[in-house]
Amino acid sequence: MDISSKMSQIIDHMGELSAVAQKLSKPVTSSQKLRMVENQTVYVMADINGCDGDVVIGLLKVGAKNLYLFDNVGDTRKVDQAPCILDFYIHETRQRTGLGKRIFDFMLAEENWIPVKCTVDRPSEKLLKFLKKYYGLETIIPQTNKFVLYEGFFEKDGTKDNNADVTTVCLERGSNEMWVVSAYMPHGDVVDPPPAILGEITAEARRRGVGVIIGADANAHHSIWGSSDTNTRGSK
Ligand code: ACO
Repeated sequence: MDISSKMSQIIDHMGELSAVAQKLSKPVTSSQKLRMVENQTVYVMADINGCDGDVVIGLLKVGAKNLYLFDNVGDTRKVDQAPCILDFYIHETRQRTGLGKRIFDFMLAEENWIPVKCTVDRPSEKLLKFLKKYYGLETIIPQTNKFVLYEGFFEKDGTKDNNADVTTVCLERGSNEMWVVSAYMPHGDVVDPPPAILGEITAEARRRGVGVIIGADANAHHSIWGSSDTNTRGSK
């Protein structure tokens, strides 16, 4: 059997086990369904050379979806490409040993997602407890669809929009908001400014129709404004 057929077989089998564990009438995950959709990724966890030999022990399917969601005050917002947890299963013989956390953290790093910015498709009780235990996700923003999201989903203080050099704060007055960004661009950066994160912030602000003020130390040196040297930053 070639690798692709083997992977299809594994995904189908784990999808079926997941459906049984969740008491679903049919699997959420199958290789055939995966071929028909875009923007979905399946992470498969295996124990290689373990005490049971080589065994597949877990599956996590995630994807990005365009959703209409209620925010904290009950207004409808269209969220494009919202991160979604779609199917998650660890084999019964290995549950509650920390493996779910391992594959979930791996996924978060790969997708560059943070837990509070994820929506969850019909979470089971076990998954609700899992998300509360490890990521402090507890207060749900009520929705009328099957997706669960948590307090903080719509807030602008997610660490995705911040790093050691770039910090974003959100100013709110009534339903109006504005973002204020402080950005430092180290002179030793290999890639010329602006950093990618600034592009992401301004794109997101444009998408939401929010104004942005950026205060930056861009390390663009020129003798005109009193620098001891002149560099090429900002000349393009
Ligand atoms: N009862 C209550 N909480 C549980 C249970 C359980 N039987 N199993 C896992 N949890 C939660 C608890 O918070 C637990 O911490 P605790 O043991 O200190 O109480 C924590 O998860 C354990 O963390 P891990 O060991 O890292 O997680 P695990 O490897 O068990 O994976 C998962 C979590 C995927 C939810 C697994 O339990 C599972 O496959 N359950 C059955 C299928 C399922 O419900 N999947 C989610 C469906 S919803 C969806 O996919 C969108």
